[in-house]
Parts: sequence; C-alpha cells; structure tokens
Amino acid sequence: SWEMAGKISKDELEELQEAFRKVDLDNNGFISDYELHDLFKEANLPLPGYKVREIIQKLMLEGDRNKDNKISFDEFVAIFHELQSSDIAKTFRKAINRKEGILAIGGTSELSSEGTQHSFSEEERYAFVNWINKALENDPDCKHVLPMDPNNDSLFKAVGDGIVLCKMINLSVPDTIDERTINKKKLTPFTAQENLNLALNSASAIGCHVVNIGALDLREGKPHLVLGLLWQIIKIGLFADIELSRNEALAALLREGETLEDLMKLSPEELLLRWANFHLENAGYKKINNFSSDIKIPFDNSDSRAYFHLLNQIAPKGVKEDEPCIDINMSGFNEKDDLRRAESMLQQADRLGCRQFVTPADVVSGNPKLNLAFVANLFNKYPALTKPENQDIDWGLLEGETREERTFRNWMNSLGVNPHVNHLYGDLQDALVILQLYEKIKVPVDWNNKVNKPPYPKIGTNMKKLENCNYAVELGKNEAKFSLVGIGGQDLNDGNATLTLALVWQLMRRYTLNVLEDLGDGQKVNDDIIVNWVNKTLSNAGKKTKITNFKDKEISSSLPVLDLIDAIQPGSISYDLVKTGRLSEDDKLENAKYAVSMARKIGARVYALPEDLVEVKPKMVMTVFACLMGRGMKKV
Ligand SMILES: *[C@@H]1O[C@H](CO)[C@@H](O)[C@H](O)[C@H]1NC(C)=O
Ligand SMILES: *[C@@H]1O[C@H](CO)[C@@H](O)[C@H](O)[C@H]1NC(C)=O
Ligand SMILES: *[C@@H]1O[C@H](CO)[C@@H](O)[C@H](O)[C@H]1NC(C)=O
Ligand SMILES: *[C@@H]1O[C@H](CO)[C@@H](O)[C@H](O)[C@H]1NC(C)=O
Ligand SMILES: *[C@@H]1O[C@H](CO)[C@@H](O)[C@H](O)[C@H]1NC(C)=O
Ligand SMILES: *[C@@H]1O[C@H](CO)[C@@H](O)[C@H](O)[C@H]1NC(C)=O
Repeated sequence: SWEMAGKISKDELEELQEAFRKVDLDNNGFISDYELHDLFKEANLPLPGYKVREIIQKLMLEGDRNKDNKISFDEFVAIFHELQSSDIAKTFRKAINRKEGILAIGGTSELSSEGTQHSFSEEERYAFVNWINKALENDPDCKHVLPMDPNNDSLFKAVGDGIVLCKMINLSVPDTIDERTINKKKLTPFTAQENLNLALNSASAIGCHVVNIGALDLREGKPHLVLGLLWQIIKIGLFADIELSRNEALAALLREGETLEDLMKLSPEELLLRWANFHLENAGYKKINNFSSDIKIPFDNSDSRAYFHLLNQIAPKGVKEDEPCIDINMSGFNEKDDLRRAESMLQQADRLGCRQFVTPADVVSGNPKLNLAFVANLFNKYPALTKPENQDIDWGLLEGETREERTFRNWMNSLGVNPHVNHLYGDLQDALVILQLYEKIKVPVDWNNKVNKPPYPKIGTNMKKLENCNYAVELGKNEAKFSLVGIGGQDLNDGNATLTLALVWQLMRRYTLNVLEDLGDGQKVNDDIIVNWVNKTLSNAGKKTKITNFKDKEISSSLPVLDLIDAIQPGSISYDLVKTGRLSEDDKLENAKYAVSMARKIGARVYALPEDLVEVKPKMVMTVFACLMGRGMKKV
C-alpha cells in the first residue's frame, strides 16, 4: 500500500508538506506535470531539457498511482520514500531546494513510527464544529452526536454515520437529499456506509471535489479528509447567495464605467472583497487588500480595525420597520494589544449573531479560510446594500444559471478542475478547464508546447486565451473525435452559450461512458447498450417497467429508475413511499427526489437533478442510467 503516512515522523511529514506546497504552484492539493515543469524551470538546474523531461515523466509514472494525471500528497510521500536514494529523487530534491534556497527535505531517512496522521488544522476543527453545532442544533436526527465538543476529536467520530454530513449538504444546497433515504435508526456498519455513500455522492453533485475520499475514510474519521470535505460543503452554502442573479442589490457594488456583465464575472471571493471595501469606503476607512494571484490571503485585516468599521457599517440602524438598532461599540478599536482588540471586535460581531468561524488568534494570524468564512457569513446576515435604481443598468442581462449549466459546472468542480468554475462561460474562456477535462477523458494534452498558462501578459491576453481555445477545439475534433461542426475556438473564447454547452456535454458524456467502459473491460458502450442493459436487468428482476430510449415518457414517473435501483440492490426501495397510478407533477417530483437520492445511496454518482427525470431531459436521463449501469456492473 502507498498509504505511507504511518511510517513517517511528524517532523518529516511537515517537511514534506512544506515541500509539496512549494511544488503545488496552483495550490489545489495536487501536483501536475506542468507544475513539475515549472519547478524545474525555476530551479534552473544545469540539466539538458530532455533529462528534465525524463525525470518528470518518471516522477509522474511512479508517483501517480491511481493514474489521474496528478500526484496527491499521499502519492508524493510514497514516491519520496521509494526513490530515497535514486538519482531522480536527488535531482528532484535539488530542484525543490534550489527553488526556495533553503528547504532541506527528508534530511534523514530514519522513519520513526510516532506520527500516524496527516496534520490538520485545529482552528478549522474548532470553527466547523461550532458552526455545525449551531446549524443543526434543533435537528432531532443529530441529537445523538450534538453538540460536539470543539476542543477534541468528537467531530471525527460524529461524521462516521453520515447523518451530520447529509444534513450539512442539504443545508448548503436545500433539497439535495431526500430525508426519507437517510438511515437513522439502529445503524449497522452497512447502513452507515450507505449514508456515507449518499453524502459523498451528493457532495459531488453539488460540486465538491471528492475524488480522493471514500466512505471508509469518513467512517474512520480521517481528520484532514473530513475537514477538507466539510470546508467545501460549508463554503458552497456560504457562497450560495453571493451572486448577482440571487441578490440584485449586489449591483450597488458597480464601479464607475462598469457594466452588470463585468460584475457578473467576479468570483464570490472577489465580490466579497468589493463588498467589504464598499462599506469601508463609506466609513472613510482605507481599503483592505485586493486579491493578488500569489498571496491568497483574502482579507488582510489582521489588526481587526477594518472589521470594526465593517461591523459598524452593516449593523442594523433601526430605520426600517421591525428592524432592531444595534450600536457597535467602537471603544475596542484603540486597544493596543492585537488579540484583545480582535476579541473586543468579536464581541461586537456576537451582538449581530455573527461570532462565527474565527477566534481572536485566527483574526490576528489572518487565517485565510476562516476569515473568508467570517466575512461571507457577515454578508449573508447583513448585506446592507440597496439595489440601485439606475436607468443605465441593463437588468435583462441578469439571467440565473439554468439547471443544465449548474449540473455541468458541478460536474467539473467535482473533478477538481482548477480554477474553480463559478461561471460556466466566463470561466471557460481560456479553455484551461476544458483542457483539464480532456485529460479526465484520457485525451492527452500537450501542456508545454500548446497551452498558454496564466499569468497572461498584459498585452495580448485574449490572443493567448484564444490560442488555448483553438487547441481545445482541435483536440476535440482530432483526438476525442467529437462532433464539433461549426464550433471554433473563437466561440469558446466569446463564451457562446450554445456552442460551449455542446462541447461540454460531449465531454461529460464521454466521461460517463469511459467509467462504464473501464468497468466492462474496455468494451465500447453506446446508448443502445445501456438501454438494453436496463431492460434486461429490469426483466431479470421481475420488474414490469422498461424503457425504449432516454426520451421515453415513462421515465417522467421515475418508476423505471426506482425499479432499476431495486433490481441492482434488492429490497432497497420502500415501495410504500413510491407514488403510482395517475401521477400529478408533485407526485412525479416526489418519486424523482427519492430516486435520485436512492441512486446516490447505493453508490451511483448521479449529477442529474430530480427535475431532469420529471421533464425527461434526455442527456441527464442518459447519465442517470449510465451511472446506475456502472453501479450494477460493480461487484460490491
Ligand atoms: C470530547 O469531550 C467530551 C466532553 O466535553 C467527551 O464527552 C467526549 O467523549 C470527548 N470525545 C473524544 C472523541 O475525545
Ligand atoms: C433538505 O432540505 C429540504 C428543503 O430545505 C427539506 O425539506 C428536507 O427535509 C431536507 N432534508 C434533509 C435530509 O435535511
Ligand atoms: C492590488 O493591491 C496592490 C497593493 O496592495 C497594488 O499594487 C495592485 O496594483 C493592486 N492590484 C489591482 C488589480 O488592483
Ligand atoms: C463599550 O465598551 C467599553 C469597553 O468594553 C465599555 O467600557 C463601555 O461601557 C461600552 N459602551 C457602551 C455604550 O456599551
Ligand atoms: C452562438 O453561436 C450560435 C451558432 O453559431 C449563433 O447562432 C448564436 O447567435 C451565438 N450566440 C451569441 C450570443 O453570439
Ligand atoms: C429494451 O430496449 C431495447 C432497445 O430499444 C429493445 O430492443 C428491447 O426490446 C427492450 N427490451 C424489453 C424487454 O423491452
């Protein structure tokens, strides 16, 4: 096994983590081969190019155990130990050392058996436990584990039965999980595992990157994985309304000469920063730092003075009806001691019901995640913005995301593309995400010679992006053999919705089919094969339902899906919950919600939404049946 962490001392692990961060330039938790290339380039070793390429190839080959074209931290630790003394390891170390000039990793090869865990952030544990305690305090299904003690590891035990995770997912994106599918009573290892499958597959469906997490990891409560997953779930909930179409008052943040479209392109983080600065400006206080691409600290406010002003600006003033008046006590502003000042600021936040996520120490140390969460929560509770009544604003532009767009976006994000996709079209305009998706469907991408990577030059940025788009279309036509008639790089670069969707759908479809083909030893799969498998499985199990194709109106009732789930895992469907006969739209939706959650619970990673079944959207219907077929072919 390459789970080596158990054999490594804590110090060494920390050193390796440090080294990993140095190589992981884009900070996404994985090393990809272009990062290795950049590392070697920066290290400026006296090696010929072919030698460097060889080393990188070897590192990728030996490091990437699960063949996802990326090296995770675990994999990194494993290669480091296997290559202890080889020339390649030495050169690799040299490159890391030279890059920083100081770092010496793995100085000794002695492996102590003391450390057994990845290190994790106790600050995060503390913050998330308090957040969850509050969020679920009235949920009768969580009484058996809540409230958790934020100062010990009770969180990691508590998540083991999956219930808390399911509840938190459903809070972040309401209605993601059908209550009826959660196992609640007399849990056994098997029924707890089902809950965890439901949680993981649902997390994936809302866009969490869960590729390297399994139900067993959660069952065992592996701290770094639990915290990593929880952060993603919590963040999705915190960010849900930081979006123009969900909150038109955000248009108050428009600057001179900007259009709504410009504002719509900003990420939630950027909008939050704007929001904070908007209020600071109104307070006559200096702005806090922008997001810079290399320093990822979003709110440089370690002296907590900006927070004082922010609280003061957003606190309700009792001017509207039923609005309380909360006067922020600014006397702590002049406190000399950083920690005490932060504490007195947080006492004021508490009066707004917003003492969440950060401790005084987290404010002073500038913990980026927790400060971001603190500010996001402030925004959600007290945005204190007024929708501008400006004639010039073209509100017609403001269309919310369609279901299909959201599903595609969640799918990409769940595969861990970088950067995170917030806006389907805008964030794909340089094709980098699309190129990463090609890798997921095993189309090789020539990152070194064919791809322009950010930071783009100030002049000619768009040309660089367009070149990437052209390459993306070329790969689609020549390598992936997609049907891309009438689609050019320019269309992706323009963010043309129809044409971008056409390409993205083919990527998702191929991805879905690849998963099936891998399970079936590489045999080609098409729609007919899936339909036949569905029909055969249904009839073998004695079910009466069948489908003719993915447009079959019968699918609207979800009965064929429910029957198929019951055929794959006999006895899993409670038929007393299933509506039959003449169904109203509401009945259909109830069945569909039950079907989608049940599919996830038995282990199918379904991205589609219940409405897709009710409306029989053929593309999404196809993915549902394909995922179930995949699950049916797996011997579990
Ligand atoms: C955490 O502390 C509480 C008391 O506050 C205790 O009941 C619980 O057993 C502890 N849990 C763990 C996992 O240490
Ligand atoms: C999920 O959210 C919906 C809507 O908020 C709610 O009706 C449902 O009971 C929730 N289910 C769970 C499992 O919390
Ligand atoms: C961000 O802030 C730094 C100084 O803090 C400034 O030099 C830089 O120009 C700013 N960047 C943008 C895009 O505003
Ligand atoms: C504001 O806080 C200071 C210090 O905590 C306290 O002495 C003072 O009474 C407070 N003022 C009000 C109006 O509450
Ligand atoms: C996107 O491309 C299609 C097909 O070429 C075209 O009909 C449509 O007008 C384009 N959309 C926009 C917004 O340019
Ligand atoms: C299942 O679907 C296939 C493909 O349409 C069809 O040929 C076959 O007859 C169907 N089988 C049943 C049992 O309905």
